[in-house]
Amino acid sequence: MNIANPDAELHLLQISDCHLYADPKGTLLGLNTLDSLQQVLHEACNAAAPDFVVISGDLVHDGTRAGYNNLAHALKRAGCPCAAIPGNHDHALTLQDTLGKKGIRTGGHVDIGNWRLVLLNSQVPGQEHGHLSQHELDILDRALEDTNSHILLFLHHQPVPIGSRWLDNIGLDNGDALLSRVRDDLRVKGICWGHVHQSWEGQLGHIRLMATPSTCIQFAPGQPGFGLDTAPPGWRDIILGASGEITSKTHHLTKMPQGLIADSAGYC
Ligand SMILES: [Fe+2]
Repeated sequence: MNIANPDAELHLLQISDCHLYADPKGTLLGLNTLDSLQQVLHEACNAAAPDFVVISGDLVHDGTRAGYNNLAHALKRAGCPCAAIPGNHDHALTLQDTLGKKGIRTGGHVDIGNWRLVLLNSQVPGQEHGHLSQHELDILDRALEDTNSHILLFLHHQPVPIGSRWLDNIGLDNGDALLSRVRDDLRVKGICWGHVHQSWEGQLGHIRLMATPSTCIQFAPGQPGFGLDTAPPGWRDIILGASGEITSKTHHLTKMPQGLIADSAGYC
């Protein structure tokens, strides 16, 4: 897209839950997460070069500055502006400092063409579940106040149940605070998140709800407890039309990278 042309379509790439480590050889349940991210970016950007990338949390697994630097280096493959928000595994201040210095947006909102992307931090330090603090709700309120653009929201934790009991127990614990603010606002076209390591879609009135698979391991859908899925690493393409329409699809690598310990009982 020519970002200067508000009438053009905007191609957004959402990636999530990269779980990188300081050590580029770091693995999660046997899978090298940096290799996996690089394969995803290669495929996602080869198919269609994005105009903008959003990474929706759990960027690193160990909260290290080196892990965030590994991410910033990998993102050069996309060759476009990026934004990133924290998930439960991140260290928010290190994320904001490290990626902010690389020109990656880490909160607030971004205006592109006829769209405003709102980036919310739902992390509760030391906890797996999410919560939108009054500070983040104020950011949302301000972002809704002064624009006629179409609006797409990003956060890490799911604001609605997705039908997996163990994941729904660690979702956003004040989803109503978010949804009550936007459900009657016709400018708000969609809400996107990560955290659940699977593709999921729903609808809240006119608002499209979208979860994005992880760039490494996937969780099996519809499970009462932890379970891995056999789906390879994935991503979501989101095409934003100038008149507010959203076309979106998730994709996966054609082959699972080597190393995954498929019968793992969980991770921390
Ligand atoms: Fe994650």
